[in-house]
Amino acid sequence: MKNLLRVLNGEALDVPPVWLMRQAGRYLPEYRAVRARAGSFLDVCYTPELAEEVTLQPIRRFGFDAAILFADILLVPHALGQELRFVEGEGPRLDPLGDVAGLGRLKPVDEIDEVLAPVYAAVARLAHSLPDEVTLIGFAGAPWTVASYMIAGRGTPDQGPARAWMYRDRQGFSRLIDLITEATIHYLDRQIAAGAEVVMLFDSWAGSLAPEMFARFSIAPAKKIVAVLKARHSQVPVIGFPRGAGAMYPRFASATGVAAVALDSAVPLDWAREMMSPSGERPGSPGVALQGNLDPMLMVTGGAALTEAAKGIVGAMRGAPHIFNLGHGITPDADPAHVEQLLRAVRG
Ligand code: CP3
Repeated sequence: MKNLLRVLNGEALDVPPVWLMRQAGRYLPEYRAVRARAGSFLDVCYTPELAEEVTLQPIRRFGFDAAILFADILLVPHALGQELRFVEGEGPRLDPLGDVAGLGRLKPVDEIDEVLAPVYAAVARLAHSLPDEVTLIGFAGAPWTVASYMIAGRGTPDQGPARAWMYRDRQGFSRLIDLITEATIHYLDRQIAAGAEVVMLFDSWAGSLAPEMFARFSIAPAKKIVAVLKARHSQVPVIGFPRGAGAMYPRFASATGVAAVALDSAVPLDWAREMMSPSGERPGSPGVALQGNLDPMLMVTGGAALTEAAKGIVGAMRGAPHIFNLGHGITPDADPAHVEQLLRAVRG
């Protein structure tokens, strides 16, 4: 079995498998070249040959243990009929949903493949072109994080517009979450059918939810998504990433049924291991694999601090099922030479 899948099945390896969130991206000159040729980021996402090519770039250059499909969490709102564009240097822009009336303008879930078919085609190509030992990861945004962009029309520091809607109109907000949940199940199911071996659910803004809201709008939708995918594809593990969940991580890990949780850089590994690992001391531990959690800033700065932090993470997780990764995506100002340094530190 491939290394990443072994860890997701609960095995602790001497050398952890490694991949990096956003490993295909602007810090790589070969990515910038494809992106310039394509015209726009969305053109890369929706052209299977180009999405395949940029997914393969970091595998060729670094030999990571996993490849993550090149796409974006905002393709689902786009496929539901929201206009989407990426403004250079500013990030994504959607026409904001505004209120519950905006829900009526969205397309039904059974029409999203009209937009998303090229993504499945990219997955199918990758399933053939990836080296045998590399695991193909599909992904989607989690409903809360996707809703926060759909409502505000852009990234916001505190997800204010979405949290306000959540408290003012619980019913309308729940309808939106349910719609995204259904779309996400369909989208991930199709990615798996096309060849994704693992799927990851990015709840990048989970940390802005108060505990009761976290239970309702991060844990509950993830639990539903995991349950349906497990029923249809019992052998495909799900990695959950409730970024910023802090003390709520263990509850997410045990309630959702994920095979692994991705940890952001603020999570202490000794605590995470004790609370969530199969090797943990705690009775009733969910027994999930842990992924993470190097500070992405170290990919910019490098130096002794990088080697020390990477070895510290490997040491802290020795004997537990662990996938080495960053605590969040690698940034455009990262130095590819530091990725090589990281791999030397982790693999020895
Ligand atoms: O290599 C990979 O990880 C696979 C591809 C991937 C992208 N986005 C490509 C991308 C993945 C897994 C994502 C997930 C994603 N997208 C998240 C969740 C993870 C996280 O970072 O918290 C979120 C919140 C988004 C939404 C999004 N997409 C934003 C806010 C931005 C703008 C910020 C930025 O970095 O420019 C994007 C654009 C985006 N998605 C880029 C890439 C490579 C940069 C676009 C470009 O090339 O110009």
